[in-house]
Order: sequence, then structure tokens, then C-alpha cells
Amino acid sequence: MVERISADAAVAVIGAGTMGSGIAQAFAQAGHPVRVHDVAEPLLARGRERIESTLQGAVDRKKLSAADRDRVLGRLSFSTDLGEAARGARLVVEAVFEEEKVKRELFDRLAGLVAADTIVATNTSSLSVGRLQEAFPDPTRFAGLHFFFPAAINRLVEVVGGPRTAPGVLDALEAVSYRLRKIPIRVADRAGFAVNRYFVPYLNEATRLAEEGTATLATIEAEGRSLFGTALGPFELMNRTGIPIAYHSMRSLETAFGAAYAPTPLLRRQFESGALWDWKSSADTPGEHAAVAARLRGLVFGIAARLVEEGVATPEATDRGAVVGLRWANGPFAAMSSVGLPEALHEVRAYSARWGDGFPVAHELEHRAGAGEARWPLRVVRVERDGPVAWVLLDRPEVLNALNSELLHQLDEAFRGLEGDPELRSVVLAGSSPVFAAGADIGEMAAKDVAQGRAFGFYGQAVCKRIEEFRVPVIALVEGYALGGGLEVALACDFIVAAAGARLGLPEVSVGIHPGFGGASRLTRLIGRARTKYLVFSGRSSGVSAEEAYALGLVARVVPAADARDEAREIARTIAERAPLGVQWVKSVINRGADASLDTALRLEGESAGHTFATRDRDEGMRAFLERRKPRFEGK
Ligand code: COA
Repeated sequence: MVERISADAAVAVIGAGTMGSGIAQAFAQAGHPVRVHDVAEPLLARGRERIESTLQGAVDRKKLSAADRDRVLGRLSFSTDLGEAARGARLVVEAVFEEEKVKRELFDRLAGLVAADTIVATNTSSLSVGRLQEAFPDPTRFAGLHFFFPAAINRLVEVVGGPRTAPGVLDALEAVSYRLRKIPIRVADRAGFAVNRYFVPYLNEATRLAEEGTATLATIEAEGRSLFGTALGPFELMNRTGIPIAYHSMRSLETAFGAAYAPTPLLRRQFESGALWDWKSSADTPGEHAAVAARLRGLVFGIAARLVEEGVATPEATDRGAVVGLRWANGPFAAMSSVGLPEALHEVRAYSARWGDGFPVAHELEHRAGAGEARWPLRVVRVERDGPVAWVLLDRPEVLNALNSELLHQLDEAFRGLEGDPELRSVVLAGSSPVFAAGADIGEMAAKDVAQGRAFGFYGQAVCKRIEEFRVPVIALVEGYALGGGLEVALACDFIVAAAGARLGLPEVSVGIHPGFGGASRLTRLIGRARTKYLVFSGRSSGVSAEEAYALGLVARVVPAADARDEAREIARTIAERAPLGVQWVKSVINRGADASLDTALRLEGESAGHTFATRDRDEGMRAFLERRKPRFEGK
């Protein structure tokens, strides 16, 4: 069992370069004491200056107070003594030069300096985590934690398990990434992991298109921008992030995957010349755009589909990587769905034909397109089963699980799918990350007209109603935020368990609308008119704290944040052990009774309780009590 990395745990960052200093800053901003190590004082001084200047930039832009800047800096210490940096660290993140020998030597030295439960992570972007972990005596505690440039700001991290990494280590790294306000994606240990595997070849392909004379640099630059909805096209991006990085990354991909991934001669020449791409001096030629788009799509779609086929990443993780890490408007799979899978397959085949076996077409793409599917399905709600308990997980962490139509639809489907399950005893509804949901999706709502807005509200109500009337108890586990539509969905559950630190509220009036999924009406019944109005009228986007929500009566229990999932699991399992019909019937009695007169409610309760005497579980429950043993309920 691997313990989570606690909020105040010391973290060592080895290497004070651009990545190392950014990583150190991210940990210090999240509250961790951070020791930064490098081999020479001037390197440490430069790392420290880099952090100071980034933080000062945030102060100047009024994103950070001077006091917070000082607090962050106060959590950082710098040392050329590896032992001093590593001793007592719960997590060590290595961000030294990308050379296997250098890294292996470091891990070998670290082995004698860290505690038995220290997790060691490499920030490598191009070496095998599996090979590196062999240099550490306990490879189960070793993993990849790949930050993206600029590491203090870019929210993406790839969490990479080597063949011997313990699953609990990956869970711990994922949890600590969320604490850093990052969005982690799980990827397998293959060259380029998920994102660089298609992103760097996309840059390379841009140079091939230029080299072959398919289009001018300016055309390719402009098409690259519009194709994936990015601020920079491929050439300008290389100019800013470094042509050598693109070249070296392609070389590692070539080693792993062969000629289709080799850097083009033009990229090599540009790298060797040390010059930047002069794309601005060419002209953007409209007639050349279509060929550029088809080629770049064929490449990116082809690799993305292969990532899934090879088990490197799920389609959802692949898209998340593009949207969060590269700031693309859409990930490859969403983009495939926009052009339609048959057209996507056509473009992938055309690209693959250039390389034969060196660029195979993923079978799943062939299969889906062949079956006439237009879209690649992407899950934004996941259902996980834990014995008699189902966890329904809202899974759009990059937008704090903002509820769009697709998510509502999948939420509805998730509950519909669980409806007839005879073994199911309770459900926990939660976020896949430590956030419940920060409201209905404002981006989607902004484009709705009156009829669509009204339909959206009633659809949300229908989904809430399904949850409210769901046969077995549904517990809302609220971590982070339950705001707007998010709180409305939580209020449709039987009760809310909130993690300390969570914020709950109905801030709709702050964006010009008001609750529509039934939250205002349910909350009124739960805590009364005045308290509901206080919450709804004030519409604070940060809501109220879990403790205030408990005092107001809208939360049933507040639990420590670090144990929130365990507490919810415990409650759900306890319910699952009780007489199923007793629990289900009393749920219905409470729900229906709450809207009825007391006389009617009492009648309902008495009749329903009377029926329990006719169940086998009543016989079993009472016999077990008298025989002083645990009952074995059957739900009959
Ligand atoms: N709809 C759409 N996107 C949302 C969202 C919502 N309700 N809530 C958060 N997001 C997105 C943000 O736009 C941001 O996306 P980006 O990285 O592409 O910019 C991402 O989620 C992270 O949110 P961010 O605002 O950066 O996080 P924060 O921790 O600084 O602030 C909140 C958190 C919840 C206070 C803030 O996101 C917020 O006020 N959200 C809206 C809450 C609301 O009014 N809900 C009711 C809507 S009816």
C-alpha cells in the first residue's frame, strides 16, 4: 500500500534548469517545502532567479500578492549537496540533462540517500522510464512525471508507469498533480508517451510539406494555426520553444518507430544552421491550404489512433493532452469526429501509403469508419464498480467537470445502465478528480437561444430526477467545487458528503441566469426559503465553505479532504450491507413523504414499513440479531 503524498510533504527537485525550476515553483506554490539541487552554485542561482522573476511577473499582473510571492519563495531552499536536498523528501523529481547515463548515475546515488517510502519520478520526455527505473533499487517506487513547458504554468502532466511501477505510486502522483492544479493523464512507457508522439511529428511534417514544395512556410504556418485552433503555427512554435528540441525529439522517435518518424533533411539543416524559421517572408497561398490540412490531419489522426491501439493512452487522455498541454481547441479524436471518421480514415490511409508498414493504420479506426460511425465516442462520465457499490465519476477535469449536454447525456445513460442491476446497493457520484462540478458549461450555454436554454434546463431536470428517484441510495461526494448545475445535481442525490475545503453554491445570477435544473426548489425544501434565497441571491462564484454548508443543512457530513474518498466508500459500503429493500423503500418514503402532508406521509411510512415484514430479509435480519451473527440479506 502506497501512502499518498501529504500536503506538507517535502519534495526534492534535482536540476535547476528551465524545467526543474518551473517544477520546483509549482510544488512550492502548492504549499510543499521544496529543496532544489544542482551541481553548481551558479546553476542554482539562475534557477532561483528564474523562479523569482516568474513570481514577480505574476505580482506585476496582480495575479499574486507580494505576501504570497514571499511565502512561495520561503518554501524553496537550494543546495549543491544532493544528500541535503534528498534527505527526508517524500518525493524526488529528477529534471536533469536528457542523457541516460547521467540520469542512471543520479538514481544510483539517490538510492542511498532517500527513505524507504520515497517516490522517485523522472521528468524525462524522451527516455524509457522502464530502463531508468532499473537504475533504482526499488523500481516499484519509480515512475515518470512528465511536465510540459512552461512547467509552472502549463497544466498538463503525463504520469508514466514503467513495467515495475506499483499502481499506488501512480495514484499518489496523480493525486499530487491535482494538488499542483495540474491535469494529469496516465500514459504508458513508449517513446514520446502520448503528446509528443503526435505533436513533434506534426512539427516535422510541417517542414516536410515545405521541403516537398506542397506549400509555402506561411501557408503551412497559417493552416497549422487554424487546423487545431492554436495561437502559434508549427514554425513560430519551433522558433519559440527551440528547433533543437524538435530535432532531438524526432531522433528519439525515429529510434523507437523507424523511418516514418525520422527528422526531415530540412529540419536537420535548420537545426544545424542554428537559424530560426523565416516563415514571415513567404506568402500565404489560399489554394494550398487543403493539401496541407489533409496531410497534417492524416498524420495526427493516424498516430492518435495508434496510441489507443498500442495501449499508450485512452482517446480521452490523448485529447486532454492536446487541449490542456498544447492549448489546441480540440484534441485529435474530437477533430476526427468533426471531419467524420470515414474522411479521417481516408486521410490516414493516404498518409500511411507513403510509409507502408512503417505507419500502420489502427484497426479500430478502420473498424469504426467501416461500420459507418461518424464520431469517435469519448467518455466524460465513467462508471467504476466496487462490489455492490458503483462509482459514477464526472470526467472533464480540465474544465472542473462543467456540465455540458454531452456530460448530462452520459450521466443519464450511466444511471440508466445501472437501473436493472440486481447486485447494486449504493452509488457514489463524484468527480474523477478532486472536484465535483463547477456548474453548467458556460461556454456551451453562451451559444444557446431561448428555446435551447429552456430545453437545456428541463433536460438537466430530467437527469436530476432520474438520480433522485434512483432505486438505491446515491451519495454525492463533493470535493473542490459544487457550483451552479453541479450543486443542483448533488442536491438530487440522497445526501451530500463534502470534503473540508470544498465550496458549494448557486452562483447562476452572477452570469445572468438563475438555477434551472431544480436546485432552487430542492434547496428550498431542504434548508428553507430564507437560507436558499441568501445563497441564490448573493450568487457568490466561490459559494460557501463545506462547514458553512453543513451549518446551513445542505451537507450531511464534512470529512477530511485527504480521506474523502475513503469516507464516502465506507458510507456506501455500510449502506450496501443493510437490508436492500428496507433501504430502498425508506428512500422512497422519505422522498415522497417530504412533498406530502404529514398525514399522508405517515400513512405511506406505516404501509411501507408494514410491507417489510413480508420480506425474507426481515426474517433474516431479526434471526441474525437473536443469534448474534451478521445478517446475510438477499434483497427479497
Ligand atoms: N463552465 C465552463 N468552464 C468552466 C466552468 C463552467 N461553469 N467552471 C470552470 N471552467 C473552466 C475555466 O474556464 C478554466 O478553463 P481554461 O483552463 O480553459 O481557462 C478551467 O475550468 C479551470 O477553471 P479556473 O477558473 O481557471 O479555476 P479557478 O480555480 O481559478 O476558479 C471557479 C474556480 C469555480 C471559482 C471558477 O472556475 C468559476 O467561477 N467558475 C464558474 C462557476 C459558475 O459560475 N458556475 C455556475 C454556472 S451557471
